[in-house]
Amino acid sequence: MAITKICCIGAGYVGGPTCSVIAMQCPHIKVTVVDISAQRISQWNSEKLPIYEPGLDDIVKKQRNVNLFFSTNIEESIQEADLIFISVNTPTMTFGVGKGRAVDLTYVENCARTIAQVSTNNKIVVEKSTVSVRAAENILKILNANDKPNVKFQVLSNPEFLSEGVAVENLLNPDRVIIGHEETADGLWAFKELSKVYLNWIPESKILKTNIWSSELTKLAANAFLADRISSINSISVICEAIGADVSEVAKGIGLDSRIGPKFLQASVGFGGSCFQKDLLNLVYICECLNLPQVAVYWQQVLDMNVYQKSRFSNKIIKSLCNTVTGKKITMFGFAFKKDTGDTRESPAIYVAKTLLDEGAKLNIYDPRVEPGQIKKDLTHLYVTDNPENVIKSIEIHDNPYKASHSTHAIIICTEWDKFVNLDYEEIYKHMIKPAFIFDGRKILNHKTLATIGFQVHTIGKR
Ligand code: NAD
Ligand code: UGA
Repeated sequence: MAITKICCIGAGYVGGPTCSVIAMQCPHIKVTVVDISAQRISQWNSEKLPIYEPGLDDIVKKQRNVNLFFSTNIEESIQEADLIFISVNTPTMTFGVGKGRAVDLTYVENCARTIAQVSTNNKIVVEKSTVSVRAAENILKILNANDKPNVKFQVLSNPEFLSEGVAVENLLNPDRVIIGHEETADGLWAFKELSKVYLNWIPESKILKTNIWSSELTKLAANAFLADRISSINSISVICEAIGADVSEVAKGIGLDSRIGPKFLQASVGFGGSCFQKDLLNLVYICECLNLPQVAVYWQQVLDMNVYQKSRFSNKIIKSLCNTVTGKKITMFGFAFKKDTGDTRESPAIYVAKTLLDEGAKLNIYDPRVEPGQIKKDLTHLYVTDNPENVIKSIEIHDNPYKASHSTHAIIICTEWDKFVNLDYEEIYKHMIKPAFIFDGRKILNHKTLATIGFQVHTIGKR
C-alpha cells in the first residue's frame, strides 16, 4: 500500500502548516485537514487564514482545492484516509487529578474513538500532538477494543518540532523527523509508509527511527532543554544586573564554545508560547507520578525561573517609574509571544500587562499582527482579572506605534518584532511625557542611541 490519502485531525498551528507543506511536496497525495471548529475551517478556506506564518499564504493558495482540502466532514475524511494525523490541542488540565500540571488528553482520546468508530479499512494513526509518555498505549487500547473485521490499526508517534514564525522553513528543512513505532513487523511497515511520505523532500539521514516511548519522551525532553537554555541565560541576566556585567557579552562568550553553540541564548522578559510551560508542567507531573521527586524539582526550577524573570521585569518598570504606575499611561510594543506570529498564548506580554493594570496603569498596546479582539480577550480572561469592565476602560489598542506612544510615560518592548528596531525614536521621544522611559524586554534596540536622544533606558541583564 502506498499512502494516497491523508487526513489530519486538528486545523491549528501544527495541523494547518504541516499539511500544507505535505500537500505541496507530495502532489500525488490528497491531504484533508479537518476540525470541529467550523469557524476555523471556513477561515482556512478564506482569503484570511486563521494563523499568520511567513510563506504559508502562498502555499495554501497554491494547493487548496488541488490536493489540499479543509473540511468539517471529519468522519468522511477519516474513512477515506490511509493515514491519519492526530494534531489536536493537548492543553494543561484545568480540573481533576493533575489539574494545572498534567496534560489533558481528552481531545486525543476523542479522535481515537472517532477513528475506531468510523474506520472501515486499515489505518495508520499518527500521534503528532505533544502527549504524555505512553499516551500511544491508550490510543491503541481504544482502537484495538473497537477492532472490526478487515480493520487493523497501527499507531506511530511522530512529534512536531516546528517553531511558530518559522514554521514553513522548519517544515521544509527540519533538523530531524522522529518516527516511533511498535516493535513488530506491522509497526516497522507503518514506519516505512510514513517515512515514504517525508522522503519526498527530506533526506533519509534526517529520519530517526525509534520505539514509540522514546519518540514521545524526545518531544518533551527537547522542549524542556530549549526552555532550560532560556531560563539558564535569564538566571545569568540577574547576576549581570547585580555586578554590572552585560548578559549579551556573556551569552556571546558562552555561545562561542562549539559544545554549547550560540542559539537560544537570548535573555528576555521570559519565554512564552503554548508549549514550553505546558510541556514542562507535564514533564514535572510525569516525574512525580514515577516517584522521581529529585528530577521533578530539577525541571520545575526552569519554570520557576521564568516566572521570576517576568515578575522581575514588571517590578523594574514600576520601581523605575517612581514606584507607582497608578494613572500613568504606558505603551506596550508587542503582544505576541514572539515575532512573526499573531499567537499570544502564554505571551509574557500578558503577565506584564496584568501586573501594570493591577497597579492602576493605563495601557496603549500596539502589535503588528495580533488582532485587537485577541488582546481584549487575553486581558479580560478570568485568570487575568476579576474586573473585565475596568480592564477594557484601561486599555487602548492602536494600529500605529507613533500614536500608541504619544503622550505616554514609557514604552515597553514585549516582542522582538524587527519593525520596532527601525522606528523613528527621536520623533517618538518628542511626543512623550518626560522623563520618557524605554524598557527593552527583548534587547533589540540600540540603547546608546536612545540614551543620547534623552530616553531613560532599562533592559535585561545590564544595568
Ligand atoms: P491548536 O489549538 O492551534 O489547534 C488544535 C485544533 O484541534 C483546534 O482547531 C481544535 O478545534 C481542533 N480539535 C480539537 N479536538 C478535535 C476533534 N476531536 N476533532 C477535530 N478537531 C479537533 O493547537 P496547535 O498549536 O496546533 O497544537 C497541536 C498540538 O501540537 C499540541 O499537542 C501541541 O503541543 C503540539 N505542538 C504545537 C506546536 C506549535 O508551535 N503550536 C509545535 C509543536 C507541537
Ligand atoms: C518551541 C520550540 O522551539 C519548537 O521546537 C517546538 O516544536 C514548539 O515550541 C512546540 O512544541 O510548541 P515556539 O514556542 O513556537 O517553539 O517558539 P520558540 O522560538 O521556541 O520561542 C519560545 C519562547 O521563548 C518565545 O517567547 C521566545 O521569545 C522565547 N525565547 C526564545 C527567548 O526568550 N530566548 C531565546 O533565546 C529563544
